[in-house]
Amino acid sequence: MEEKYIYIKSYGCQMNAYDSNRIKDLFTNKGYKITKDVSKANLTILNTCHIREKAVEKVYSDIGRIDKIKKNSDMKIVVAGCVAQAEGIEIKKRSPAVDFIVGPQSYHKLPEMVNESDKILNSDFLQNEKFKNLIYNSSKLSSEFLSIQEGCDKFCSFCVVPYTRGPEFSRPVEDIIIETKKYVANGVKEIILLGQNVNAYHGRNQNGKSKDLAYLINKISEIDAVKRIRYMTSHPIDMKDSLIEVHATNPKLMPFLHLPIQSGSDKILKKMNRKHTVKDYLKIIDKIRKIRPDIAISSDFIVGFPDESDNDFDETMKFIEKVNFVIAYSFIYSPRPGTPAQYKDNIDHGLKKARLSALQSLLTEQQKKYNKSFINKDMEVLFEKKGRHEDQYIGRTIYNQSVFTTSKEKILNKILKVKIKNSTNFALECQI
Ligand code: SAH
Ligand code: SF4
Ligand code: F3S
Repeated sequence: MEEKYIYIKSYGCQMNAYDSNRIKDLFTNKGYKITKDVSKANLTILNTCHIREKAVEKVYSDIGRIDKIKKNSDMKIVVAGCVAQAEGIEIKKRSPAVDFIVGPQSYHKLPEMVNESDKILNSDFLQNEKFKNLIYNSSKLSSEFLSIQEGCDKFCSFCVVPYTRGPEFSRPVEDIIIETKKYVANGVKEIILLGQNVNAYHGRNQNGKSKDLAYLINKISEIDAVKRIRYMTSHPIDMKDSLIEVHATNPKLMPFLHLPIQSGSDKILKKMNRKHTVKDYLKIIDKIRKIRPDIAISSDFIVGFPDESDNDFDETMKFIEKVNFVIAYSFIYSPRPGTPAQYKDNIDHGLKKARLSALQSLLTEQQKKYNKSFINKDMEVLFEKKGRHEDQYIGRTIYNQSVFTTSKEKILNKILKVKIKNSTNFALECQI
């Protein structure tokens, strides 16, 4: 039989990357091979993201490019992911080259779907059925994403996720344990638990009892071969004391917390429907720093949200100075179809850009200072992949900083104690 190849590209968050891994597993299980060369592909899968307009535009321009290759081959194009869910049939109208459209809760049906002539599957939220029908093989060697929770019931006024991913759903504890054991049997050392609202996790155990994220982390840590556990992304209103406590009691849980706030102004938080104040957030940070003083805190920010005044933006800057983030992601507000905030995009684009740039310089300053403070210190690093240069390896500290080094020895997938020699804005350099 002739060999068949799939090419897959992820555009979105870690959960989107996790879904791409599962799609790869579904197809390799059917005898397909993975290719990084789109011109070789029989099946091209674009696993899309709807979060900001730019992410969506990128998909359409990629389709245009790939269509030129498609015209001279038997290739089929699949649009999967959150754009597929949100725009469905519209995609075919804009890009007739697309053969199949499949949302993030129905992609377990992709292998059977691609045997049909053309199809759109994006309406139901079949979370339960999906997870039962997936295949869990893929291994990145050191660190593996694992979706434990999906969807969102929070409805922040700027965000598409509740519409593209559906309502909050938590997987049963036992299924997650089984999946973890599969990965560590492949050599994986670190498990990153994923969810759009991961700390809202409330999956059932074998007795049908609802269990929280703190319980799940402790349960996973009982597996000997699991050396590191991380989780993301958390929402402030679900940051329970039980979870905070695990940061003091469980040495396998890494001292890193990604906790998006979006804005340092209560007025804007209210308009964003975030359901918490700046003070609530600071209280969480205080609590967690009390029991785990070295914890690394990261966040997300949106600038230029409707009605954001100079004063509101100032409050965000002051808030950042107060908390001191080790890293943070920031975005210009992008009005999204179907979300309540879209109608009032009233901040001048130049001003948005100026605010983003000021905010990013402050965050980079903090990150740079933080990284610098590690020079000459001993750190534990998990080496996860080869770098671009010969004998170069890239790993992560317990605080999630990227570390690079060169070594003649094979150090891939090892946790080593190293000395930090140098720092850049975004990374550390070490000596073995
Ligand atoms: N569930 C997470 C992350 C959601 S999406 C949370 O609750 O924080 C990741 C980030 O994208 C968000 O934290 C937010 O900063 C950003 N984002 C979401 N919608 C956006 C929009 N319409 N415009 C700009 N940034 C947005
Ligand atoms: Fe989006 Fe808000 Fe839900 Fe996060 S909590 S996924 S920002 S609606
Ligand atoms: Fe994007 Fe969907 Fe993730 S919109 S950020 S891929 S949940």
